[in-house]
Amino acid sequence: MVPDNTILLEILRDACRAPSGDNVQPWRFRWDGLTLSLYNIPGIHNSYLDFEERGAYIAHGALLENLAIAAPHYGYNVSIMLFPDQGMPDLVARVAFAPSATYDDPLYASIQRRATNRRPYASRALASDARAALKDVAMPEGMTLVLIEDAAKRETLAPHISAIEQLLLGHAALSSAFFAHIVWTKREERARRSGFYVKTMEFNPVQAFVFKLASKPWLMRAFRKLGLPALIASEDAKIYGGGSALGGLYAPDFSKTSALALGRALERVWLTATTHGLAFQPLFGTTMMGYKSRRGEAMFLSDAERAAIEVSALSLETAFRNTRDTPTLIFRVGYAQEPSAYTSRKEPNIVYN
Ligand SMILES: Cc1cc2nc3c(=O)[nH]c(=O)nc-3n(C[C@H](O)[C@H](O)[C@H](O)COP(=O)(O)O)c2cc1C
Repeated sequence: MVPDNTILLEILRDACRAPSGDNVQPWRFRWDGLTLSLYNIPGIHNSYLDFEERGAYIAHGALLENLAIAAPHYGYNVSIMLFPDQGMPDLVARVAFAPSATYDDPLYASIQRRATNRRPYASRALASDARAALKDVAMPEGMTLVLIEDAAKRETLAPHISAIEQLLLGHAALSSAFFAHIVWTKREERARRSGFYVKTMEFNPVQAFVFKLASKPWLMRAFRKLGLPALIASEDAKIYGGGSALGGLYAPDFSKTSALALGRALERVWLTATTHGLAFQPLFGTTMMGYKSRRGEAMFLSDAERAAIEVSALSLETAFRNTRDTPTLIFRVGYAQEPSAYTSRKEPNIVYN
């Protein structure tokens, strides 16, 4: 017995609460009455920041993890076959359903509560049960999670984490691509249900005003001359250095399959943090751009920009003891007020046949 269309939609609504870079939701589905196919929508992520759809595959990994956690709530178990057809590169997975006892996974309730929290976090140590739970997360094989709690060490790493912001705002093409994904109003967010919602950035009124002005390329050019990108990066470094811990998550390599596994691991760690009342923000920009640059895929940057981002990325990889040829997915975690805004999701796009 397989889920009927109504139950399938409910399961996929839960699964699609997964995070994706800039909330672009790079997925669509096909249901043939027995098996669910999950497809990638290529090319919709920010091409300057992404590398060969890996950002999308991380998001698909998070979606599949949500799917596996949510299905038993509706009385099903899933078995997932990754990249089942070599000839169809956009076919990410085929999912089969089997009836099971109905129960709630301990992480299920956190699927709807998980969100990116970009507020400053309190300077407070992790509660011992939260620390133990994070270190204990069951992850796909070969995955490494390193937590850095030492405050002085986090302070020295924070400027490297925010180095991507200086680069992004200081570069005309990168900042245009960044501003193109911004959603400016609640009404627009409700209508589009995708994109990077400005209210989730937790700006104070002055910052929000400057950010809006900076979206105009001619004003941004003037702001660059006044040193705004470096100022924003140094302010954000103060936020990234605070809180309880920095985390670093990495796979053995950065293949398509490893990116999916990284996404599954990210979602489990994030849901576990949510269950323990912890705020969470992925901070993937510097290490991802450093990885692209090392592979000769960031030729849109100047020599000096490439050198600077590679130095910052290397400092971070070293701190997280990552000696593999794969970027560390960094996040910060800690105690904070609830985010002041949340992002919506589109209805799952399912083709039935
Ligand atoms: C692979 C990946 C990388 C991300 N990198 C960042 C990042 O560097 N900085 C950031 O603030 N958010 C980052 N995010 C968070 C997304 O922007 C966020 O998940 C998305 O906008 C949806 O919002 P939500 O997490 O509140 O549901 C990342 C998410 C993913 C999946």
